[in-house]
Amino acid sequence: MDRFVIEGPVRLAGEVTVSGAKNAALPCLAAALLTADAVRLENLPDVADIRTLGKLLQQVGAEVVRDRRCAAIEARTIGSADAPYDLVKTMRASVLVLGPLLARVGEVRVSLPGGCAIGVRPINLHLAAFEKLGAEVRLEHGYVEARAARLKGADVAFDTVTVTGTENVMLAATLARGTTRLRNAAREPEVVDLARLLIAMGARIEGAGTDTIVIEGVETLHGADHAVIPDRIEAGTYAVAAAATRGDVRIARCAPEHLGALVARLRATGASVESEGDVLRVRADGPLLSHDVATAPYPGFPTDLQAQWMALATGLDGIATITETIFENRFQHVAELVRMGANIRLEGRWAVVEGPSRLTGARVMASDLRASAALVLAALAAEGETTIERVYHLDRGYQRMEEKLRALGARVRRVS
Ligand code: EPZ
Repeated sequence: MDRFVIEGPVRLAGEVTVSGAKNAALPCLAAALLTADAVRLENLPDVADIRTLGKLLQQVGAEVVRDRRCAAIEARTIGSADAPYDLVKTMRASVLVLGPLLARVGEVRVSLPGGCAIGVRPINLHLAAFEKLGAEVRLEHGYVEARAARLKGADVAFDTVTVTGTENVMLAATLARGTTRLRNAAREPEVVDLARLLIAMGARIEGAGTDTIVIEGVETLHGADHAVIPDRIEAGTYAVAAAATRGDVRIARCAPEHLGALVARLRATGASVESEGDVLRVRADGPLLSHDVATAPYPGFPTDLQAQWMALATGLDGIATITETIFENRFQHVAELVRMGANIRLEGRWAVVEGPSRLTGARVMASDLRASAALVLAALAAEGETTIERVYHLDRGYQRMEEKLRALGARVRRVS
């Protein structure tokens, strides 16, 4: 298992280029199962989760040809519409093949994803929606079995906003008979990006990006070429890192318009944030002020940046509350930050952070993708050497993070 060894403190400076969005690429890869034609995706991030889903697509019968940041997927025929446990347990987003296979083949068997470090993460809302579309859904032996001769359009209202739930049902509804209305739909840019690909494939979708999406089913979909949007969470991670290290970083090839909530929070601390075109420049120097932050579905403050923000908050002046409203257990990074000298108290969904603390390097353990990023940020600001174990968590969602950080002046090396 690889680990990172990081020497702090450092002020990050220079320019970093953002990769394609993992959480847009995943549903777009799944969309290729809806047609027998080739779908070409560009600007894919070279991260583990993308490779894992590519393997799953091959397993169900699609041909996947990868070339650096592009992939051509051709699902001419679907073999076994079966996503086995050993694959799904490593990546929950595998459930995104449920909708396309149900619509394309009429039956599918996918292992239930099981929980992960940040929570139970059920998919009950996905399954209830598929039943509304006329599918017969059975759960047994840890697997979901769903079948439907032909899905029928229906009105679906999600009890809670679910990103992959919205994506899964939108994928399935493109080939249903009639109209499907999704209410309380997720508004994330990744949902909009998926809708853009599906429309290029011949789907009829309106309202993506709002809380009501209307999909008019069609008989078949054809191939398309699509470039995936930049990764707003990767961009946000480097923006927070710039503030946490009191540096001056230009984040290139990003979409500043997808980072409104974070930019507002960074400016409220006193950091300087300017955007011009697809570049976001974040600078900070001297004391920064703390204030309360609560995560919310897009366009609110992203839960995927909560851990990174907490690492920054340990160095801000004052006491602030960080509220995690989306997941029930997304504070795995707290204990490790406290070991580095942070002053954080947990009360249920609230974390009370008092700063500024002088962080010192330590041996810490990564637990999930974004908690690992938080530990990297803390290590960059801390005095001395930090070793972060199990950085395979990071590799799931960050492309060559140590190289991008070194280019910004960080002293970080990967040790196998
Ligand atoms: C997506 O996960 C992202 N993953 C997550 O990013 C992100 O944290 C999350 O959305 C929230 O923004 C991908 O897009 C691949 P949800 P998803 O369904 O879709 C509950 C990362 O770091 N819920 O929006 O699985 C659920 O338990 C990952 O890149 C149900 O109860 O999240 C959670 O509390 C981590 N039943 C809340 O809704 C359901 O059927 C939001 O979950 C579905 C969800």
